[in-house]
Amino acid sequence: MLTLAGVAMSGAALARLEAAERRPSDTKPSQRSKPHQAGAAAVCLADFEPLAKERLSHFAYEYISSGAADELTIRWNREAFDQIRLRPKVLVDVEKIDTRVTLFGQEMPHPILLAPTARHRLSHPEGEVATARGASEAGATFVVASLSTRRLQDIAPAAKSPLWFQLYDLRKERREFVRGVVKEAEQFGCRAFIVTVDAPVDGARNRVQRVADQLPPGMETPYYQKASAAAGVVLPIMGSMGSFTWEAVEWLLSVTRLPVVLKGIMNPDDADEAVRTGAAGIIVSNHGGRCLDTLPASINALEPVVQKVAARVPVLVDGGIRRGTDVLKALALGAKAVLIGRPYLYGLAVNGAEGVTKVVNILREEFQVAMALTGRPDIRSIDRSVLWT
Ligand SMILES: Cc1cc2nc3c(=O)[nH]c(=O)nc-3n(C[C@H](O)[C@H](O)[C@H](O)COP(=O)(O)O)c2cc1C
Repeated sequence: MLTLAGVAMSGAALARLEAAERRPSDTKPSQRSKPHQAGAAAVCLADFEPLAKERLSHFAYEYISSGAADELTIRWNREAFDQIRLRPKVLVDVEKIDTRVTLFGQEMPHPILLAPTARHRLSHPEGEVATARGASEAGATFVVASLSTRRLQDIAPAAKSPLWFQLYDLRKERREFVRGVVKEAEQFGCRAFIVTVDAPVDGARNRVQRVADQLPPGMETPYYQKASAAAGVVLPIMGSMGSFTWEAVEWLLSVTRLPVVLKGIMNPDDADEAVRTGAAGIIVSNHGGRCLDTLPASINALEPVVQKVAARVPVLVDGGIRRGTDVLKALALGAKAVLIGRPYLYGLAVNGAEGVTKVVNILREEFQVAMALTGRPDIRSIDRSVLWT
C-alpha cells in the first residue's frame, strides 16, 4: 500500500513547525528545537527552508538560498512548474508503483539525484560525508562537487550507492591538476563525471556580495585549486570558474572512460554539439538561477533540448524541483531523471545525514503518489499525455 510513511504530522509537530517559522530574530541557539525535532516537523521540502535558516549562519543561508541579480530565474523555475497542469487516468492498476530507472548502466531505485553543490561544511560540520550517507540511505546518487569541503577518501566509505563527480575548470593550465582529480574520483568508484559548462564566470550574486566579509574559515576545497589553505578561507567565493571550450570536453573524454555529462545546457544547439562531441548525457540547468539571471525556467528549456537530442543520450533536468508532481512533469517532458540542490542542503543543515535522507524520501513518496493518482504505475508509462494541454 502507498502511504506517506514517516511524514504524517502530529499536532505537536505542526506547532513546532509554526513556532520555527515565527522565530523571533533574537532566538538563542539554546532556545531552538533540537535537530531531530526539527526534522520530524517537516512534511514537504518547503518545510526544511525555515528550519534550516534557523540553524545556518547568516552567510551560509544567503550563500545557499540566493541567486544571481534580481533572482527572477529562481522565481521562474518554480512558477513554470506550477503552471503545468496534470491529466489523470483513472481505473488503472496502481497497486504497485515502480520508480526504477537505469542511467549509464546504473540501476537506480528512483530518478532523483543530488545535484553538485559547493561547500557542504557550511550546512553541517561533517559536510559531504553526511550528505553521502544520507543520500545512499535514500538510494540517491550524490554528485560530489569539485568545491567539496571533504575528500573522497572520507566521502566514499560513507556512500552505499555510487557517487558521481562534478568538474569545473578544464582550462589547459589546470589540466594536470584535473587529471589527478579524475584519477582519484575513478579510484574511489565514481561512476560518471559531470562538467559544469554554464559558469565560466560567476553570476552577479548580489546577496552574497553583501555578506562576503562573513566567509567562515576552515572551508578548504581540495579538488578546486583556487582554494587558499594558507589564508584559511576559500578564494574566491565569487569570481571566474574558468573559461574553456569544446576542446576541453574532448580532452576530458581522452583521459577517462567514464560517462561525461554536460551540466548547464539550455540551448538545443549546444545540446546537439554536446552529443556530437561525445557527451554521454546532458543536464538542462540554469544553475538554480545562480549564474545568469533572466534565463528561462529550466523546465521550459527541457523539451526543445529533448527534441534536438532525439534519444541519442539521456537528458536530465534540475532547477526548482520541490514536489513529486514536479518530478512527474519533468519525466513527462522527456527527462530521464532530475536533480535537486537547495532542498537537500536545507535537510543537511536541519538534521545532517538523516535530513538529507528525509528530503529525498519525501520527494520520492510524493512522486509515487503522483504516479498513482495519474494512473502511471511505472516510469515507462509516463509520457506527455500525463500533462493537461
Ligand atoms: C549552494 C549551492 C551551491 C552550488 N554549487 C554548485 C557547484 O559547485 N557546481 C555546480 O555545477 N552547480 C552548483 N550548484 C547548482 C546545482 O547543481 C543545481 O543546478 C541547482 O541547485 C538546482 O536548483 P535547485 O537548487 O532549485 O534545486 C549549486 C547550487 C547551490 C544552491
